[in-house]
Amino acid sequence: MIKVAFYDAKPYDIPSFEKYGKERNIEFKFYESKLNEDTVSLAKGYDGVCVFVNDNVNEKVIKELYSLGIKFVVLRCAGFNNVDVKAAFGKIHVYRVPAYSPYAVAEHAVSMLLTMNRRIHKAYIRTREYNFSLSGLTGVDLHGKTVGVIGTGKIGQIFANICKGFGMRVLAYDKFPNPKLDYEYVSLDELFANSDFISLHCPLTDESFHMINDESMSKMKKGVGIINTSRGGLIDASALLNQIKSRKVGFACLDVYEEESNIFFQDKSGHILDDDVFRNLLSMPNVLVTSHQAFLTEEALNNIADTTTQNILNYYAQESNENELCYHCSNIENCKRQRKQKCF
Ligand code: NAI
Repeated sequence: MIKVAFYDAKPYDIPSFEKYGKERNIEFKFYESKLNEDTVSLAKGYDGVCVFVNDNVNEKVIKELYSLGIKFVVLRCAGFNNVDVKAAFGKIHVYRVPAYSPYAVAEHAVSMLLTMNRRIHKAYIRTREYNFSLSGLTGVDLHGKTVGVIGTGKIGQIFANICKGFGMRVLAYDKFPNPKLDYEYVSLDELFANSDFISLHCPLTDESFHMINDESMSKMKKGVGIINTSRGGLIDASALLNQIKSRKVGFACLDVYEEESNIFFQDKSGHILDDDVFRNLLSMPNVLVTSHQAFLTEEALNNIADTTTQNILNYYAQESNENELCYHCSNIENCKRQRKQKCF
């Protein structure tokens, strides 16, 4: 039986990991605590650790894990900015789940757009209080409107196709346009100038950091609706707040926020939020925030557990695995993975 210490366990993670663990002879010990220098000793006696986005797998933690005999770190997410892969190289193998359900994220983006446009979030609260007035709940027909999709990868394509189904015009921008797609690819400036709604589906990189800022928002239509289910850092949150206050931006739907790591996935009710920008955004009637829940469907959770447990089995089978984070080259993202073996 392979034994894995599972950090930052949430009630929604446990059933799928128990199911796949049982089928694949992997026993998980579920800890609510996040992995960090204080909690690393909980991994004693285990073969590997399973972590999520807010576990801190820094150099010190890796050193300690290695001295405890931990052989692998399996991330149950795609992003790996919280793992010092360089420090792990030669000591501990690191794996991730690159994709779990693009439908989940795209459908969440659409549901945020629909909710905000038709003020469903307001209507829900009103009718519960027997307020059946319609004042202030007017939306627009999506049919015939133009949506700008930034990033036409797995999620962006599904989002764009759903919007086409509504009878919307889709304008697309991608750093690497896909010639196989019959989208109307335009420059970013054209997309900003002509879109009624803009949805972000590109990764966060040095280049895309704060791509939605004062300058880009000044090029947009007055009343534009912005949807971000990608990464918080794509939007300069202070600039967004100002553009909402100035009525330039009609609404914002945010499933991600650039300073989310100490806020999201936790019950903070009863606490005072120190982040003034976030607090102000939350107080706006035309800002809808969900706490990084776009991925959260049964299918995605099953895919995450399936791939993570498969990554563990691959480790023992000595097989090469595309999901292993490699430090052979200086740029992990561009690693071509031509080797037919494990990272080290
Ligand atoms: P993907 O890799 O299939 O597509 C990304 C697309 O963005 C590619 O076509 C790429 O060429 C394009 N791109 C790269 N740099 C760009 C730039 N600077 N400007 C414009 N386009 C650029 O990725 P996928 O699976 O569609 O995911 C998109 C994003 O969704 C991820 O990067 C991730 O941040 C986010 N995500 C959010 C989740 C959530 O729960 N909110 C869950 C999973 C992913």
